[in-house]
Amino acid sequence: MQSTDLIKPIDAPTPTKPGPTPHVSAADYSSMYAASLNDPDAFWAEQGQRVDWMKPFTKVKNTSFEPDNIDIRWFEDGTLNVSANCIDRHLADRADQTAIIWEPDDPRTEDARHITYAQLHRSVSKMANVLRDLGVEKGDRVIIYLPMIPEAAYAMLACTRIGAIHSIVFAGFSPDALGARINGCDAKIVITADHAPRGGRETPLKSNTDTALLHCKDDVKCLVVKRTGGQTTWTDRDYDCNALMAEASADCPAVEMAAEDPLFILYTSGSTGQPKGVVHTTGGYLVYAAMTHEIVFDYHDGDIFWCTADVGWVTGHSYIVYGPLANGGTTIMFEGVPTYPDAGRFWDVCAKHKVNQFYTAPTAIRALMGAGNDWVEKHDLSDLRVLGSVGEPINPEAWNWYNEVVGKGKCPIVDTFWQTETGGHMLTPLPCTKLKPGAAQQPFFGVQPVVLEPTSGQIIDGNDVEGVLCIADSWPGQMRTVWGDHERFEKTYFSDYKGYYFSGDGCRRDADGDYWITGRVDDVINVSGHRMGTAEVESALVAHPKVAESAVVGYPHDVKGQGIYAYVTLMNGQEPSDELRKELEKWVRTEIGPIAKPDLIQWAPGLPKTRSGKIMRRILRKIAEDDFGALGDTSTLADPSVVDDLIENRMNRG
Ligand code: WTA
Repeated sequence: MQSTDLIKPIDAPTPTKPGPTPHVSAADYSSMYAASLNDPDAFWAEQGQRVDWMKPFTKVKNTSFEPDNIDIRWFEDGTLNVSANCIDRHLADRADQTAIIWEPDDPRTEDARHITYAQLHRSVSKMANVLRDLGVEKGDRVIIYLPMIPEAAYAMLACTRIGAIHSIVFAGFSPDALGARINGCDAKIVITADHAPRGGRETPLKSNTDTALLHCKDDVKCLVVKRTGGQTTWTDRDYDCNALMAEASADCPAVEMAAEDPLFILYTSGSTGQPKGVVHTTGGYLVYAAMTHEIVFDYHDGDIFWCTADVGWVTGHSYIVYGPLANGGTTIMFEGVPTYPDAGRFWDVCAKHKVNQFYTAPTAIRALMGAGNDWVEKHDLSDLRVLGSVGEPINPEAWNWYNEVVGKGKCPIVDTFWQTETGGHMLTPLPCTKLKPGAAQQPFFGVQPVVLEPTSGQIIDGNDVEGVLCIADSWPGQMRTVWGDHERFEKTYFSDYKGYYFSGDGCRRDADGDYWITGRVDDVINVSGHRMGTAEVESALVAHPKVAESAVVGYPHDVKGQGIYAYVTLMNGQEPSDELRKELEKWVRTEIGPIAKPDLIQWAPGLPKTRSGKIMRRILRKIAEDDFGALGDTSTLADPSVVDDLIENRMNRG
């Protein structure tokens, strides 16, 4: 990575075509930011008017980061409904405007579909009635395990319409992972589809769901959407979504929800144990998603917005569905992958739908950069105004390519740092500000970043400093708790550094005061922008009968950002072989999903441990990085010879 000192800010580019006046200018930013910290109640009371309230709030911010009393409430006495805000309130002016453009996996066999706000209203109301008829009530949990099809958005909005709490499980997760989440939140029903086409291949979602449900309560129902029409088995608990929706009434009043009623749960990986259910609530989340979507992407009426994420991740929640639809926007839902049918797919879709804001991940940018400029240049990208990046630090090389080849030097790049836990953007440049390739730069309104010294937890003031990134006070989009385990919430985010929200990321504040995210400082790795807990992969590996012990770390990977490096110690009497390596790869895919498959597996006769038996991950990380010259202090190792063997047989050479 280039030294950040060498990077001078560049002016925000001048657009080719005259565009709308930006919502926020560089001068506005400073005064609005100051206002957001000086008087948060006044600032957020005004921003709270972005959404329609059934009963207006009188209280704005009521939050505490005090140890043993982590309590976060925004707009707490107001009531509203998210689906009414994302659909009904737009009907008067935009019933015939496209709300969702759906782009199929294979453009050669299927056409894109345009769904208007009126059509969205009808489908969501019908699906809400179907759920209600199947016994789903306010507060019940609904698991959504769907491909990127319009029904995924209908299902999310249908839940919000009747006050049910959705929890989306990415369609790439295995039956085991799905089952754990169904049980984790005690869901009443799973909404799935027959098959999920992606990149020309199909995942058998219904059959995965059947397998998952073998380990769940008998009364969990399954609502099945037809996507491919491919064969599935049918049991007593299954319901045909298309048939039921055809019969259902299109009239379903939106229920009144308190601002702090849970809106959704999203499972995400942490540094310890199994994934935790991040809980977001109704009012603050929606205000924050709508506001960041409008300001960070400078979204204006009539713009076509495309976020390439999947609704299985938080990015899809906030910037495919809730933010854009709350703003009455037109949002693209893309079922496919960047390289199918060819490496020009993203640019083909941008040109076809005249996309104005395009939001993707560095891993996709790096992969497409490798495919060559021709794929980009043969498409007309002249409608693009703003480019966005999310999920991991973007390396300057990829940033420059994105800027020059995709944006033609005319589109500001907003490098948005945020997390499942934060609900929306936390640190990001705005389209009007100066840009620094690779920096997340500055806080969004109301966000107070602090850099702490990792061991002492002392605040590091001044510029040109590095430490861990914490946030000093609450913002409306913040998660409220871990589903069913508030103690875990406190422990994970508020116990290492008392009085602060701890992000888990390291960061640097440069000489100009701009922030650079340096990556996770905990045992979370970031593979192609997807979070993976090393503990999760380890527990999957040790569940294999031939594995005695395992330690998993990340290592730098050209395209994925980080790859998964697994050290595996076999049970006595088991012989390492390529076959066993393949078996373990397959095992992890089945236990968690393809995204968790180790890239490299090293057979380890032993793991470096302290005398008290703690695995020394620092050493394992260094060996995986092929940087074993600087192993640091190894004097606490119980058996130093283990390390020599690991270095000798390391898998990542140069
Ligand atoms: C990383 C995704 C650098 C970071 C929205 C964070 C980033 C984790 C950026 C959250 C960025 C996300 N620059 N790092 N612009 N965006 N990250 O929960 O390590 O899937 O903690 O949310 O991704 O991943 P999550």
